[in-house]
Amino acid sequence: MSVKKETTLLEDLNQALAAETLAALRYLYLSKIASGINSPPLSMMLKDMAKDEWDHAGALMERIIQLGGVPISKPVTHRLVMDVMVDEAKDEQKLAALLD
Ligand SMILES: [Fe+2]
Repeated sequence: MSVKKETTLLEDLNQALAAETLAALRYLYLSKIASGINSPPLSMMLKDMAKDEWDHAGALMERIIQLGGVPISKPVTHRLVMDVMVDEAKDEQKLAALLD
């Protein structure tokens, strides 16, 4: 019989921090590579979305510290982010196979 480990509030908050950080990085990245006829307004919208996500990440860091925890300092290596990256790599491989 396997026993699922319960996560703590601090672990959940750090997972949310990793997700917010990943979202912020993605929106910022997309704002920089946006191109095409509607690029300037799209780029600005994505840049604003990135700022919102950084603000969310900052709020989570503050709450983790208030609760006596330590915010993760390397969100890219967090399990949630790694799982997302693996899933995306699989999707990219599927897309590449379809295009071949
Ligand atoms: Fe957010």
